[in-house]
Order: sequence, then structure tokens, then C-alpha cells
Amino acid sequence: MIVKSTEFIKSAVKPGQYPDSDLPEIAFAGRSNVGKSSLINVLVNRKNLVRTSSTPGRTQLINFFDVNGRFTLVDLPGYGFAKVPLAVKKEWGPMMEAYFATRENLRGVVLILDIRRTPVAEDRQMLQWFKTYSIPVVLVVTKCDKVSRNERAKQAAVIAEAIGVAKEKQAAVIAEAIGVAKDALSFFSALSKEGKDQIWERIERLLDGNGD
Ligand code: GTP
Ligand code: MG
Repeated sequence: MIVKSTEFIKSAVKPGQYPDSDLPEIAFAGRSNVGKSSLINVLVNRKNLVRTSSTPGRTQLINFFDVNGRFTLVDLPGYGFAKVPLAVKKEWGPMMEAYFATRENLRGVVLILDIRRTPVAEDRQMLQWFKTYSIPVVLVVTKCDKVSRNERAKQAAVIAEAIGVAKEKQAAVIAEAIGVAKDALSFFSALSKEGKDQIWERIERLLDGNGD
């Protein structure tokens, strides 16, 4: 997609506050500090559409952005950071589930994982919600610039195992990690911009109504 315009619409906590829109919507989710905002900024070619920070847990609201007047991009609050106050943690689950359960124009979620970390309970909770509400998911493994090709392949297998990607698929996942085949995960780096085109292709498929 050639991004010509991006614009912040609003922030929300509950359904009554979501923007009233018929445009298809793509949400971005992942644990605090995983690199969600950095991925979004690379996708839309903006240095700072979405604020990035080295302080995890800054985005605690659901933030809606318009892209090209074509679709709504949603930056969901990060999760899984130990130092976030308990009151905020307690709100996270109901806030997310309300969004997934009620947002009719939601066409898919980009779930972002860190190449160096084993997925946590909240990552698996996310995947469970996607299944429950039949929401297509694009899995993106980010910060790939931080590991070698060998480590990437090793971690891809660890991640696939932790999120329950079928055993048969693991070989394909590893193959992709070393650059020989296409499959379940998109590998990305906000520094090198590796993976950007592939992620856009997958988002466009979701917008066209073909879940992958
Ligand atoms: P919260 O909104 O706080 O949950 O964080 P986030 O998931 O939006 O992460 P953000 O994009 O703010 O990035 C967190 C930190 O990781 C920042 O210091 C980024 O510069 C860094 N970072 C993000 N993506 C990459 C990447 O691909 N490679 C490297 N090396 N650093 C990255
Ligand atoms: Mg963020």
C-alpha cells in the first residue's frame, strides 16, 4: 500500500468511545515494549505517528488512526509488563475482550512477538480470543536485527512451540527464518525495515477479506 495520509482519530477505553466508522479496521497488539509503535511507524513511513518509548507500558488506551481514508489502524495497549500498576493490568483483559467481541469492522489483528523472547500467557490469551471471535491474525516477529540467522531459526522454533503452531508447520517456520520458504511468521526489523512489504501484503489480504 502506498501511504499518502495518516491521521490520529481518537483514543478510547470502551466501545461507546470507538470511532463511528464503516471502514475496515486492522489492530496491532503485543506485549509492552515489543516494538508495536515502531512497526506501525515504519509501515506508514512516519517517524512519529505513534509515540515510541523506552519506557514500557506507555500506551494504555486504544488509539485509532485513519490511513488513506481506506482503513482504520488501531494501536492496542501493550501488556505483560511487571511494573504496570495492578489497576491497569485488571482493566487490560476486559478492555481487549470488549474490543475483539464487539468491533464489527475489525478485519484482522497483527500480533507482534519479540524474536528474543518466548511468548507469554497474554500472547496466548490473545491467540485464544482471535480463535473465539474468528479474527484472522498476522504474526510478526520483530527486532530481528538483534539476533544472528542461526539464533533466529532457533528462536522461531521456540516461538512456534510456545504458541502452538502445528508441529508440521515448524519446519516451514524454520525454513522461512533462514530464508528458503514462506509461512506462518513474518520476520521484521524496524531498523533494517526487513519484512515491511510482506507485512503490507498480508494486511492488504485481510482488508480484501481473505484471512490468512
Ligand atoms: P509500548 O507502547 O510501550 O507497549 O511499546 P511498543 O510495543 O509500542 O514499543 P516501541 O515501538 O515503543 O519500542 C520499544 C523500544 O524498542 C524502543 O526503544 C524502540 O526503539 C525499540 N525497537 C522497536 N523495534 C525495534 C527493532 O526492530 N529493532 C531494534 N533494535 N529496536 C527496536
Ligand atoms: Mg507503543
